[in-house]
Amino acid sequence: MSELRVGILTASDSRSRGEAEDTAGRALIELVEQRGWLVVSYHVCPDDRECVAASLMEMADREDADIVLTCGGTGLGPRDITPEATRDVADREVPGVAEHIRAESLRITKRAMLSRAIAAQRGTTLIVNLPGSEKAAREAFGFVADQLEHAADMMAGGGHA
Ligand code: MTE
Repeated sequence: MSELRVGILTASDSRSRGEAEDTAGRALIELVEQRGWLVVSYHVCPDDRECVAASLMEMADREDADIVLTCGGTGLGPRDITPEATRDVADREVPGVAEHIRAESLRITKRAMLSRAIAAQRGTTLIVNLPGSEKAAREAFGFVADQLEHAADMMAGGGHA
């Protein structure tokens, strides 16, 4: 397929003051670009369900992202709403992606059981929730990155390789 188009959305009250403080989001941009993929969009939202859902729809529908990586807001805090916002805009969930991230992350830290991250499809876009610390986001991305091109091919109607 042609170059993968990736959107990145950081959901965080503490980091919503500015992109400069968003080390996890910037790390994801770097990791995506290292793979030769295109970052088509980068949003920073407060932990606000409507803002996160609106950003996800914009990246999927208007900015034509194949993959959207969210970062943060997957935990148990009262303001953690990223999985709910993702479900709000999802056509269907892709449970294996989140299961794999959790399973591999649990080998690193038992705290991974406290992430409620999901992955879901909206049209021809795959949205993947990643946890919010830079370390956790880097690790989680590394667990799924090698399947993202094939996911985009499948969503675009391509056959199985
Ligand atoms: N996953 C990996 N791979 N590495 C980590 O360090 N941290 C966990 C978890 N997942 C972690 C991880 C922690 S401490 C929390 S609280 C949850 O992700 C939720 O994080 P979030 O609320 O920032 O999304």
